[in-house]
Amino acid sequence: MPERGFPKEFLWGAATAAYQIEGAAREDGKGESIWDRFCRTPGAIQDGQTGEVACDHYHRWRDDLENMRDLGLNAYRFSVSWPRIFPSGSGKVNASGLAFYETLVDALLKEHIEPAITLYHWDLPQALQDKGGWTNHDTAFRFADYAEKLFLKLGDRVKTWITLNEPQVSAFAGYCDGIHAPGVKDLGQAVQASHVLMVAHALAVEAYREASPAAHRIGITLNLHPVYPWTDGISDAEAAGIADSRINRWFLDPVFRGEYPKDILALFDAGKVAPHLDPKDLALLSSNPPDFLGVNYYFPMRALASDADPILHYECAAHKDREKTEMGWEVYPEGLYDLLVRLDRDYGRPSIMITENGAAYTDANVANGQVHDDDRISYIRAHLEQALRAIHDGVKLQGYFLWTLLDNFEWSFGFTRKFGITALDRHSMGRTWKKSASWYQGVVASNGAAL
Ligand code: FCB
Repeated sequence: MPERGFPKEFLWGAATAAYQIEGAAREDGKGESIWDRFCRTPGAIQDGQTGEVACDHYHRWRDDLENMRDLGLNAYRFSVSWPRIFPSGSGKVNASGLAFYETLVDALLKEHIEPAITLYHWDLPQALQDKGGWTNHDTAFRFADYAEKLFLKLGDRVKTWITLNEPQVSAFAGYCDGIHAPGVKDLGQAVQASHVLMVAHALAVEAYREASPAAHRIGITLNLHPVYPWTDGISDAEAAGIADSRINRWFLDPVFRGEYPKDILALFDAGKVAPHLDPKDLALLSSNPPDFLGVNYYFPMRALASDADPILHYECAAHKDREKTEMGWEVYPEGLYDLLVRLDRDYGRPSIMITENGAAYTDANVANGQVHDDDRISYIRAHLEQALRAIHDGVKLQGYFLWTLLDNFEWSFGFTRKFGITALDRHSMGRTWKKSASWYQGVVASNGAAL
């Protein structure tokens, strides 16, 4: 047990995602992704922007690497763009796509920065969407083939793999709310997609253990939200239980226990939106538990009983009085502690990494050319303090990846929301540290003592 600080081998990183930073949307043989397509839908993106150029990381990755080195990071989480590797989702590999990531991995290792690769951060090849995307069971097998290719190519050097980023967002924002690619609005399709994503995850874990020359660790990243009842009343307590099942357990239970929570399954069944569950799929999940869980934590949920949702009978709202970030997300660092302790207790004491945590603010306070983002610093500090509290209470937390290294394309918000500790000038493409970057540098250098 560490005295008071973070464990000695703690990973201090930053996280990014391919579509949000790379740009070069049509270069070197890359195929079209569902985000390339979705961004062209009128009205889909707040400022009408796309990730076509994004931060031009594809060409300027050396600048970003230098930045990470100067920050003193010992880990970097990034995602691979599936359509760069398989332009039409499967079939022939695009060698230049693979080469881009291989060069990046080697350069990171040279700087002693451990690469943590996310295999899927939302940019499905459009060719697979044309065949039903994540509602098509076959997509899970195409994903495992793609994953295997990367394991064989990079598995000797990359020790940390993440199958999927936030399958709940892929499924529900993408196929039910229609606010993310592919922009479908159909609850039944979303539920089916969520199950196919779970199968894809399990197949990739299986492929990793079979294929990787030096199998190390593979996990999944879930966006998790502790759910609190809106009032002390019984109906809100019940609503919070259902919300927790639908938001958290719907993904945690298949991953760790090979089953879905019965309460939601029954409600989905009654609403005629239950997924098609092949018993083989569940067996596959049970026999492929992850080596670690990636947790993305931003904000809690507060649930109240409501018939606005005719199937699940709850809705979530943000606390009225608490501080919010630019996203409208409630700032509640204690939620991270509650979440970590609960995962430890309910899911067999898993190894955990915080794979995303951070905040969007207006960044309006600029002095001498530098953004003075004290609000972002206090958000991150407060969350790290709660992470440390959880470590003291026995949670096996192994790393923290701040979201995000530099301001980037924030999905349907375009460039209007800034989460970076580095500011991006979208004309010159220059990168400038915000105050939070210097602060994080000190935290990393002191292994968390300078919080
Ligand atoms: C998460 C996403 C990430 C980023 C942050 C703000 O849901 O994984 O790409 O958009 O939110």
